[in-house]
Amino acid sequence: MGLRETIETFALKRMGRSGQTSDFRRRIIETAGIGPDTRVIDMATAVGGMAYAAAEKSRHVTAIDISEQRINIAKTDPRADNIDFRVMDATHTDFADKTFDVALIVLGLHEMTAPGAKSALKEARRISKELAVTEFGLDKWTLFWSFFRYALALFEPPGFLKFTRYNIAEMIKEAGWEINKEHAKFPFVTYICS
Ligand SMILES: C[S@@+](CC[C@H](N)C(=O)[O-])C[C@H]1O[C@@H](n2cnc3c(N)ncnc32)[C@H](O)[C@@H]1O
Repeated sequence: MGLRETIETFALKRMGRSGQTSDFRRRIIETAGIGPDTRVIDMATAVGGMAYAAAEKSRHVTAIDISEQRINIAKTDPRADNIDFRVMDATHTDFADKTFDVALIVLGLHEMTAPGAKSALKEARRISKELAVTEFGLDKWTLFWSFFRYALALFEPPGFLKFTRYNIAEMIKEAGWEINKEHAKFPFVTYICS
């Protein structure tokens, strides 16, 4: 893991430690309407923060990330017991069509580059009936993001700045999703799609 990933992993672990399910994560789970029987996949789970939050509501949570190190960290948490964590590329998964009721992609798209994000959204469409995407509200708070994206780019993978030039809602629609609900809370937006 490079320096960037190590710092991000540390930050994500701090944000997701036991008993620390944040309002941010709870709101996404509630907005996505996740209940005990909802089959959930958390795509780009990193160290599992959203998967743990989903597992507080649902008995059927699968979580994937392309980083083996992060999945290994996620698996060591006591909250991981009932979660199926797997190393997998979100742009090309092993799951059958419509295996899941809800796919979550929380702050994952901007780390995939624009072509990767588009593929992951299409893959989510294939394997899940509904989708909840949370991303930076690039087109909501344009003045803030027009400056802050350059600072953030220092901590993000190559391709991040190019990604920030895309309209995320349009990207979601181009992948075949219909956006039913939007929840914006600075600096993030959650899109609920079917
Ligand atoms: C900011 S983290 C996601 C945070 C996490 N969803 C959360 O709520 O804590 C972005 C993650 O995307 C993952 N990622 C990037 N490209 C991916 C891909 N093609 N497939 C799966 N995961 C990917 C990275 O390994 C990283 O762990």
